[in-house]
Amino acid sequence: MREEDQYFKKVEDTYLFLKEKISFSPDIIITLGTGLSSLGEKIEKVAAFPYKEIPNFPVSTVETHKGELIFGLLEGKKVAVLQGRFHYYEGYSAKELTFPLRVLTLFKPKIYIVSNAAGGLNLSFKSGDIMLIKDHINLITDNPLRGINNEKWGPRFPDMSCAYAPELRELFKKVSQKLNEKVREGVYVAVPGPSLETPAETRFLKIIGADAVGMSTVPEVIVAVHAGVKVLGISIISNVNDPDNFKPILFSEVVEISKKTEKKLGKLVKAFIKELEF
Ligand code: HPA
Repeated sequence: MREEDQYFKKVEDTYLFLKEKISFSPDIIITLGTGLSSLGEKIEKVAAFPYKEIPNFPVSTVETHKGELIFGLLEGKKVAVLQGRFHYYEGYSAKELTFPLRVLTLFKPKIYIVSNAAGGLNLSFKSGDIMLIKDHINLITDNPLRGINNEKWGPRFPDMSCAYAPELRELFKKVSQKLNEKVREGVYVAVPGPSLETPAETRFLKIIGADAVGMSTVPEVIVAVHAGVKVLGISIISNVNDPDNFKPILFSEVVEISKKTEKKLGKLVKAFIKELEF
């Protein structure tokens, strides 16, 4: 069997495994990243699967990521939550690291919500800010759609002009205003990592138009768009990097700020989901 056919079959097999075990189809898929895992605790669980018990799933190598897929209800909506994600810097290809999301897109969800911790490049940002992603730049030199296209899943050349659904961003902003929480908006650039940016690289990323930098999210968003799923992307700005006054970026601080912001983001995401009309 060709490599691509094997990948297609693995995705189908894993989808069938999950479909047989759960009684509903999720309308919303959520990926919870660094320090954002606690939303998972708010879900009325219908079923939960540690990644290592799901056939063909990769297993996370990052300690801050839990590695569990939860199906359940959140604000009355049917959700599937990927608690813990995979990164390019762990050694996975973009295709491998998006495997869990690709499987879940076969349930034909309406919305994909993805969160991450990111470094601020826009100097008006502060650590602890929440940034809605309005667009992205992919500097991870891999694309999950590389290789033979599965026409059943999506088009060969998916349009990326509106990768982050404007109507979802508007709704999120409305909900945030109601709850008196300020949200920012900006362009996210994905870099391969795991080494953090140098001051010169930071200057470059600012010049090319990015407001925040991180090492995840973009591969998943490409898969979601390919599958016709609307995306809401949110970054927690854990640190701000000024190329002219550069300070060391400590991963422990990234985790700490993300944890501190997690409650606020969880509240906003819950309120957003409640307002969705389906
Ligand atoms: N750079 C890259 N990734 C990150 C950063 C950063 O400054 N902060 C959190 N994730």
